[in-house]
Amino acid sequence: MPNKLTFFSSKPYDKTAFQQTNAAYGLELEFFETHLGPHIVNAIDHTDAVCVFVNDKVNAEVIAALAAKQVKVIALRCAGFNNVDLEAAKQQGIKVCRVPAYSPEAVAEHAVAMIMTLNRKTHKAYNRVREQNFSLNGLMGFDLHGKTVGLIGTGNIGKAFAKIMIGFGCRVLAFDLIANKELEALGVEYLPLLEILHQADIVSLHCPLNEQTHHLINAETLSIMKQGVMLINTSRGGLIDTKSVIQALKTGKLGYLGIDVYEQEDKLFFKDLSDTIIQNDLIQRLMGFPNVLVTAHQAFFTAEAMSQIANTTLNNVKTLLEGGNIHPQAALNL
Ligand code: NAI
Repeated sequence: MPNKLTFFSSKPYDKTAFQQTNAAYGLELEFFETHLGPHIVNAIDHTDAVCVFVNDKVNAEVIAALAAKQVKVIALRCAGFNNVDLEAAKQQGIKVCRVPAYSPEAVAEHAVAMIMTLNRKTHKAYNRVREQNFSLNGLMGFDLHGKTVGLIGTGNIGKAFAKIMIGFGCRVLAFDLIANKELEALGVEYLPLLEILHQADIVSLHCPLNEQTHHLINAETLSIMKQGVMLINTSRGGLIDTKSVIQALKTGKLGYLGIDVYEQEDKLFFKDLSDTIIQNDLIQRLMGFPNVLVTAHQAFFTAEAMSQIANTTLNNVKTLLEGGNIHPQAALNL
C-alpha cells in the first residue's frame, strides 16, 4: 500500500502539478477543495500526511484531531508557516515541513511586470484598442533607463530583481541587513533605508514581514519619498500601512502602486468573489485608483515554480514518512 497524502485548499492547478510530479514518488494523492479546519477533519479517512497552503488554519484543535487520525506529517506547499501551531504538532508527534525556496525569478519577474504595466499602461491600451480607440492620450510612460530603483531586501528574490533592473539600465540602490557581494560587484550601492527612499524613482519591497518591517511604508517614510514615486510590493501585505498609502495616492505623492499582497488578503485572495459585496473598504478604495494595480498573490505562479513546489513537497513527505532527513530549512519542528 503506498503512503497517502491528503490536500486541502486545492485548486485545479495544484492537482495538475502534483499529479504530474507524483509519477516519480508513487504516493496516493487525495484532493479536497475546502480549507483544513475542525469542520472537515473528521472526513479524513486514513491518511499518512496532509498538505496545506497559506490560508489553512492548522491550530491545536485541528492538530489534535489529525493526531487521533494517525496523521504523521503536515506538509506546507509554501514557504511561510505562521498558520501552523508548530509546538502543538511537536507535542502530538506530527512532523511539519515546508518549501523554503522556489523560483525567485518567478516573483522578481512579476514585480517587473507590475512596473512595466503601471508605467506603459498596457492594461489600458489593451482595453482601449478593443473598443477601436487608438488615441494615445493618457498613455505616456517614462524610460526606465537611467532611473533609480530602491530595493528593500536583497535575498533570493531581491537579487534576481536587481539583476533585471540593472539590465534595463537603472541605477540600483539597496538596503538589507547584510550586503550581497555579488550585487555590489554588479554596481548595486548599499545605502541606509531613508536615503534610498529619498532618492528612488521606484521602490520595490523584497524583505520578509517581521516586527522590524511591519508597516515599513507608513506616513513618515512616504513623506521622505520623491513626489510621484512608484511603489511595488510582492512581499507581504503587512509591510505597508494601507491607510497612509491611500492618503499618499490621493495627494499624488505616490504616483503608482503595484501590490501582489494585501494585509487582509486571507479573506479575499484565491477566491472568486465576483457575485459578492466586498466588505473590505480599503481594498475597494485602492482598486478605484487609476494608477493602482492589484494582483491576487500570483507572483509565485509559474509552471517552473509550481513544479519545484510539488517536487520539494512530495520529497519532504516521502522522506519523512520513511524516517529520513529533509533539508534543514524545510524541516520546521524536528
Ligand atoms: P530571502 O530570505 O532570500 O531574502 C529576504 C532578505 O530580506 C534577506 O536578504 C534578509 O537579510 C532581508 N531582510 C530581513 N530583514 C530585513 C529588514 N528589516 N530590512 C531589510 N532587509 C531585511 O527571501 P526571498 O525568497 O527573497 O523572499 C522575500 C519575500 O518575498 C518573502 O519573505 C515573502 O514574504 C515574499 N514572497 C512572495 C511571494 C509571492 O507570490 N508574492 C512568493 C514567495 C515569497
